[in-house]
Amino acid sequence: MASLTLCKKEDVPEDEGLKVEINDLTLAVFHVESVFYVMDDVCSHGPGSLSEGFLEGYEIECDFHAGSFDIRTGEVMRPPCMIPQKIYKVLDDPNDVIIEVPED
Ligand code: FES
Repeated sequence: MASLTLCKKEDVPEDEGLKVEINDLTLAVFHVESVFYVMDDVCSHGPGSLSEGFLEGYEIECDFHAGSFDIRTGEVMRPPCMIPQKIYKVLDDPNDVIIEVPED
């Protein structure tokens, strides 16, 4: 596994999403109670951008059709979403949000 630095932790507003486009990935970064979570930004149900959705606790609601996911696991919490959202492991770092990605 390789690591990929996405952004500074201080750039991610608490209880909101930040969209990060890097390499060929478009990701949504979330920050809840000093813990950071990363998932694919494009909703598994359609064109919605989860970083622009509504975060309530650990539930991100897509602003397109109001389906939702758990940002900790990617699991579907509310339809019409059916397919879990891909999540990324966030590595420990004091300053940056860094995820684990497969080697090229
Ligand atoms: S595109 Fe996200 S719920 Fe439909």
